[in-house]
Amino acid sequence: MRTIFEPYRVKMVEPIRMTTRPEREEIIRKAGYNLFLVKSEDVIFDFLTDSGTGAMSAAQWAALMIGDESYAGSPSFYRFEKKVRDLTGYEHVIPTHQGRAAETILFTITGGRGKAVPNNNHFDTTRANIEYTGADAVDLVIAEGKDPQLDYPFKGNIDHDALERFIVDRGTDNIPLGMCTVTNNSGGGQPVSMANLRRTSEILKSHGIPFILDACRFAENSYFIKLREPGYADTNVRDIAREMFDLADGCTMSAKKDGMVNIGGFLALRDGDLAAKCRDLLILHEGFPTYGGLAGRDLEAIAQGLDEVLDENYLHYRLAVTRYLTEGLNQRGFPTLQPPGGHAVYIDAAGFLPDIPPEQFPGQTLSVELYLAGGIRSVEIGSVMFGKKDPKSGDFIPATMELVRMAMPRRVYTQSHADCVLESVESIVERKSELRGLKIVYEPDFLRHFTARFEYV
Ligand code: F0G
Repeated sequence: MRTIFEPYRVKMVEPIRMTTRPEREEIIRKAGYNLFLVKSEDVIFDFLTDSGTGAMSAAQWAALMIGDESYAGSPSFYRFEKKVRDLTGYEHVIPTHQGRAAETILFTITGGRGKAVPNNNHFDTTRANIEYTGADAVDLVIAEGKDPQLDYPFKGNIDHDALERFIVDRGTDNIPLGMCTVTNNSGGGQPVSMANLRRTSEILKSHGIPFILDACRFAENSYFIKLREPGYADTNVRDIAREMFDLADGCTMSAKKDGMVNIGGFLALRDGDLAAKCRDLLILHEGFPTYGGLAGRDLEAIAQGLDEVLDENYLHYRLAVTRYLTEGLNQRGFPTLQPPGGHAVYIDAAGFLPDIPPEQFPGQTLSVELYLAGGIRSVEIGSVMFGKKDPKSGDFIPATMELVRMAMPRRVYTQSHADCVLESVESIVERKSELRGLKIVYEPDFLRHFTARFEYV
């Protein structure tokens, strides 16, 4: 069959509120041309994030009803714990309210001044949690992973020569653990190969450094391995996922992604001593160890979601979604990061709008245009998010890339939604030469992309 269809039927619907272009012009002007400040009711296609925005299945909603809300020893926790243990092989399962809470706990214990943690690319919250303890978060992705146009199957791989050098430079004692993010969100949702994970594991092990996966999108990574890595075509994705987990000593997990739920996460570890310290902090910040920051019903929904995400029909469709949108955008003249990643499309705004210089935020301009054209909400990942001022000269330092990310919520939108998105962006190509850059008229002291306000130059 040529058409890859959504492998689900719709049982419950949520109406989309329509807006007209003149209405959207008014809405975005009032929001200071910042899509974070637009109400979700005023958005037609919300691609701000794939995190916590998915649709749960009938079985997950049913599981909510058997959630047991006991403060201690809930059967929902034991079902959740067994599911995570069966999936990962990790003995100690610590529920948290979302991924960054697992990171906070892990790095409060292992981080600190003088320490350094390598990764392919740290996600923002991981980096922030490491740096907050005074430690350094260091990115060691391969060179191929930094070239947006290059088509390479595993652009999330770690550079092993760089990792060996990093260990010698920093010293084993100063590296509490090494990480790898699957798939590599900050690098474009690109997968990591099993061979690369295996070698990372060997290198870290030979130095006695624990290896922790950032496993938010473990199922998408596993399916990429099945499709792209020689020797895995006939392996079940659950077995591929287990082989990945077997190479590491634990994981942090935001269940808002491949846990298929709207809230939740966990930290899972082999090391009982480390787990005991983490549980003490969990009690301080999140809750008792048999619920973490969650309700019993949330634990039930995650346990069910972790099974559903490994359905190969689902994963086949899931990767087809980003591929379909990426190819559609490319055909209409939008350059994108190649090849399509797992959870999002990344448009190269600098390539699309070469006449708008980085200091006029081409990514922000494009994200505003996507909203005006089709009510589409994306997120700028460029100089608004990562641009800096030189502390001495005050000169503008641009981000390395000017990207616009359209992240796909799981099981929410259909192919006709995607077709409509593609039709609506055609008008942007027609008006491309008229588009103007933006300037910041208000910004807070840090994390400015969330609340900054803009005006046209
Ligand atoms: N690690 C990765 C790779 C992530 O993508 C995220 C979240 C986290 C950790 C933190 O998890 O949000 O549950 O605390 N990514 C979202 C995104 C926010 O839009 O990419 P969290």
